[in-house]
Amino acid sequence: MMSENNPTLRLEVDNPIQPLLFQPITFRGLALRNRVVVSPMAMYSANEGQIGDFHLVHLGRFALGGAGLVFMEATAVNAAGRITSGCAGLWDGPQVDALRRITSFLHAHGAAAGIQLVHSGFKGSSQKPWEGGGPLAKGAWQTVSPSEEPFDNGWPAPHALDEEEIQLLIEDFRTAAQRAAWAGFDVIELHCAHGYLLHAFLSPLSNRRTDQYGGSLENRMRFPLEVAQAIREVWPKDQPVFVRISAVDGVNIGWSIEDSVTFAQKLKVIGIDAIDCSSGGLRIDRSRQVPARSPGFQVPYAARIRRDADIPVIAVGLIRDANQAETILTEGHADLVALAREMLFNPNWAAQAAVELMGHSGWELWPQQFRYWLQRRTRQLAKN
Ligand SMILES: Cc1cc2nc3c(=O)[nH]c(=O)nc-3n(C[C@H](O)[C@H](O)[C@H](O)COP(=O)(O)O)c2cc1C
Repeated sequence: MMSENNPTLRLEVDNPIQPLLFQPITFRGLALRNRVVVSPMAMYSANEGQIGDFHLVHLGRFALGGAGLVFMEATAVNAAGRITSGCAGLWDGPQVDALRRITSFLHAHGAAAGIQLVHSGFKGSSQKPWEGGGPLAKGAWQTVSPSEEPFDNGWPAPHALDEEEIQLLIEDFRTAAQRAAWAGFDVIELHCAHGYLLHAFLSPLSNRRTDQYGGSLENRMRFPLEVAQAIREVWPKDQPVFVRISAVDGVNIGWSIEDSVTFAQKLKVIGIDAIDCSSGGLRIDRSRQVPARSPGFQVPYAARIRRDADIPVIAVGLIRDANQAETILTEGHADLVALAREMLFNPNWAAQAAVELMGHSGWELWPQQFRYWLQRRTRQLAKN
């Protein structure tokens, strides 16, 4: 691993070959300085959807640490769409102002700013992970879903959305996208993964509807596609929209990789620029298998979607090492790599990976304020 075991980052050796990880990449009018993405990570630290200084510092560290694109966590399009009471929101003006501070900081330090838009569906009204993650007992709110089946045993029954309510939600996503543009974000990522509302519409495990929003694959994709289309309509033409999916629900159950390829093809047609390939998140029969969580375990999903839907993809999930990330790109499995927990552990991951892979020229990614001291430190350590 890069961070702990390599205190003497290469200083003088120069790698004449620019690794793919550190070659810029362009989506519409947006040029990313490199292909390292900070994956969206809920911090459960907002108040009534309003974020504060914690988020600014937390996300700002990744820009200083060299990442190309930094995602703001799953941000709810309305209050009921939050996962927990600590989740961020984008349904009023002060929320826009607080987010604008983040985008300004990220831009000032060379990173692009992304925001993930979500509605939690039947996984909303839940406790923060460190409080157990179960359904809220006190302060609970009514959740919504395609059908009335709860997320899991012991969870409250959601309200099954009618067609008029679906239309209102599409408008909530559209308005939130406009607000995200006012806040200065470069990329929107629509959250269609992890069992939240749009994923719950996609999957036959959670969508039991018999109207035009349920049943066939085409019908189950309808609402997520309408949301993606509404966002694309209001989002600036020269800025990209990504979609995060759960590429599979499990092994041979529910939503499949073939369904993901079809969905990605449809998303491409309406102007979606990349698919972020995660997996799982819906409750499945405990006796059924979920994909084993080994390093890079979701990369094959990204590779398959990239190949068969011919659309740029983001690989995510247990990517920790600079060489591992570089290999994912050079082998043509993905266009971007996203990291979550490794970034929490080491917010300088990208800048450190640059020195690992490029030697002297990699130091360019470090802020000037740090670079001078770290280069001196590296020289001293090399002498000992
Ligand atoms: C603290 C934390 C919060 C997360 N919040 C989100 C989120 O808001 N939206 C999302 O799509 N995924 C979320 N995830 C999942 C990550 O984006 C990522 O897909 C997952 O952790 C696998 O990547 P990793 O192995 O690099 O951590 C979260 C993960 C963590 C650890």
